[in-house]
Order: sequence, then C-alpha cells, then structure tokens
Amino acid sequence: MTKKITFHVQNGGSLNGDARVAGDKSISHRSIMLGSLAEGTTHVTGFLEAEDALATLQAFRDMGVEIERKDEGCVTIHGVGKHGLKAPKAPLYLGNSGTSMRLLSGLLAGKNFNSVLTGDESLSKRPMKRVTEPLAKMGADIKTTEKGTAPLEITGKSGQLSSINYEMPMASAQVKSCLLLAGMYAQGETKVTEPAPTRDHTERMLSGFGYSVSVNGNQASINADGKLTSMTIDVPSDISSAAFFLVGASIAENSNVLLKHVGINPTRTGVIDILKLMGANIEVLNERTVGGEPVADLRVTSSKLKGIEIPENLVPLAIDEFPVLFIAAACAEGETRLTGAEELRVKESDRIQVMADGLQILGVDAKPTPDGMIIQGGKIGGGTVESHGDHRIAMAFAIAGLRATAPIEILDCANVNTSFPEFKNIATNLGLKLTTEEN
Ligand code: S3P
Repeated sequence: MTKKITFHVQNGGSLNGDARVAGDKSISHRSIMLGSLAEGTTHVTGFLEAEDALATLQAFRDMGVEIERKDEGCVTIHGVGKHGLKAPKAPLYLGNSGTSMRLLSGLLAGKNFNSVLTGDESLSKRPMKRVTEPLAKMGADIKTTEKGTAPLEITGKSGQLSSINYEMPMASAQVKSCLLLAGMYAQGETKVTEPAPTRDHTERMLSGFGYSVSVNGNQASINADGKLTSMTIDVPSDISSAAFFLVGASIAENSNVLLKHVGINPTRTGVIDILKLMGANIEVLNERTVGGEPVADLRVTSSKLKGIEIPENLVPLAIDEFPVLFIAAACAEGETRLTGAEELRVKESDRIQVMADGLQILGVDAKPTPDGMIIQGGKIGGGTVESHGDHRIAMAFAIAGLRATAPIEILDCANVNTSFPEFKNIATNLGLKLTTEEN
C-alpha cells in the first residue's frame, strides 16, 4: 500500500525569493507521445518528472519505445515513427492521469494491436464516454464499464477509422487532442470544433514536429497524410504549478516572488487575468518564445484582493487553477462568484464540493452551486481538511495557511507527486511553514 501523506501548515508568514517551478504537465505528456511517433531522436529538457507524465513515459516504453532519462528533466526519445508502436504485453496503467488515458484512447484506436488502459481509483471514476462516443463514430471499438469509465478495452482498427466533423459539447483540450490524434490514422479530414478556446499544446507541438494541423477560429483539422520529424523541446514551467505562488504571494503580506520561465500560452493564462481583476500585482517580464510556446518571468507582490464575478470566458483558460483561486476569493474583500464551471465536478475530485467542504471547515462562507461557487471573503480559520487525494486541492489548502488564523492540517496529500513533487521544497524555501508526515 502506498503511504498516506499529511500536510501540516503553520499559519502566517510571507513568500519571498525566486523559483523555477515544475515543468508543464500537458506539454510533458505530449512530448513523450509525439516524440515516440516521430522519426528520429527527440531531446526534451524541463520534462516534468512527476507521476502523471512518468505514467505516459512508461506506457510508451511498454509499447516498445526506447526512452532514456538522463539528468533531472532531460529525456531522450528514440522515435519509432507513426506506425512503429508495438502491442503492450499487459494493460497500460496510467495512475491518476486523465490526460494520458484520454489522449491514448484516440492514439491507440487506429492501431494494428489491441490494448487495455487502466488507472487508479480516482481515474477509474472519471467520465470516458466523452472520448469513446466520438471515437466510436469514427469506427473505433473501445469498451468501457457500464458507467462509461475505465478500464478501456481497445480493439485496434488499423486502416478502418474514418474522419469525423465533431462539435464538442464541452470545452475540453483532452477530448480535442484525443480526436486529433485519432485523426492522424483516419481516412479523410477530421475536424474538431470547440465551444470555447482550450489549451492548444497538441496543435502547436504537432506543427513543431512538422505534422500539418490547420486551425480556423475554434476549429482544428487534421488528416492522415504526414509524418512527424524529431525535434528538441524545452518544456516551460507549468503555470498551473506557478498559480499556487501567484495566489500565495498575493494574499500573504510582505511578499515578493519571481517565478521564472513560466509558460504563458494564452490558452492557459486565465489565472493571471482573474487575479488581476481581483487587484493582484503581477508583472509579466521578459516575454519570449521557446520552442513555439510563449514564456515569461512573473513577478508577484502582496496585494489587497477584492471579490469579483469571474467572467465565464476565462473559465476554460484557468480550469485547473480554481482550487487555489477559491483560496484567493476567501481572502478577498467582498463576494466572488464563479459560474459556468461544471467541468470542475469531474476533475481528479469534485473540486466544487471538496473545496466548499474544506473552506467551510476553515470557517469560510463558501456556497457550492451546480456549476461554481459563491464565496464571501473574510477570515480563514484553522482545522483539518480532506484533499480527497486531489493534488491541487492539497496544494491550495497549504497556501491558505499563509492567511489562516490557526494551523491547517491537510489529509491524503500523496498525489501532490502526480504534478508537483518539488512543491514542498519550493514552498518552504519561499517561506511557507509546511511540514509533512508519512503514515
Ligand atoms: C489537460 C486538459 C484539461 C486539464 C487537464 C490537462 C490537457 O482537461 O484540466 O489538467 O493536458 O489536455 P479537460 O480537457 O478535461 O478540460
């Protein structure tokens, strides 16, 4: 059995100093997937060495790809070409990683071998019909449980997939990416339309590998003509990990933090926009482009936040940052309202319910709604909260300690290792009074 980890946070303090947070999770997954399908050797630096991205890496090793891990964050992938993957000998275990499972389902649907995708308890509860239904329309054969969840049993339909023109019912980069990857093996032009912009790392990286994807407004199209040619990838820091310190340094007095080399792809920067609307002091410095992705250093200093109505168009652009944005709202003056965010209910946990429960335990007036939350800013007290094994919930409540009036204990934090194993070291170096207990 894996060990349980409890976070203990002493209340108060400030955050000061420079940090380079973990590599971007979405880009790390895609670097392994596309690097494996490329012809030639792809070198990746800044790769996220955390459980989720490593689950993808292991899955491709299990399909015969030689992948070397060298110094911290340096990965070399010996690509096998678009048709070079081999049948895995056993089910591919993807741990907690929704991105691995949903993207792989598309990629493996058109292969000349069968495969089975499994995951941990949380991943085995998450909805997979959002990918298997459109894939079935393309001719894929993927069995789920009756509830539409993993394990996914994929019967490879090599040469038998046909294209689709699909309007996604929800704003999901995982669904979009899944269908684009399936479209690389389908006859005709696969077109995916999204109801609102979502992260576009798949489209950018495919182009970087020389595979043509055309993007027209909210529609991306791909076909089976083309190949991927190896490249070098420098993965920027994950803005979703930086977000904990953007909020932490905003809410804690006397704070001044410089977050270096952070990815600021416009499909990911909703957290900066929302915090700025709340009155945060965030400067975007030294903007540059690294391997097709915009990157900058972010300077954040303490501020007096105010409650806002979060514009719905920013929701998909900040979808992973709401746990910590709820902490910002709890420290703000006045009311913050989030609507249009029902997707939060099907993340690693039900992030609306779990955050509302924890905030209430800490004495915050937080009212969950079907598609969001209404939070009255005020005091955060101390207490014991449950993260439900959700990494971002655990880290969000740790940051809350900076403004709490008493210590906070957070249960079930081992999954911080899925996205940000260095969280504790970086947070404590900057000034968070965090200790961990294994039991
Ligand atoms: C991701 C897309 C988002 C996000 C997840 C990573 C990706 O999920 O929440 O952490 O890498 O494509 P959805 O597509 O379900 O919104």
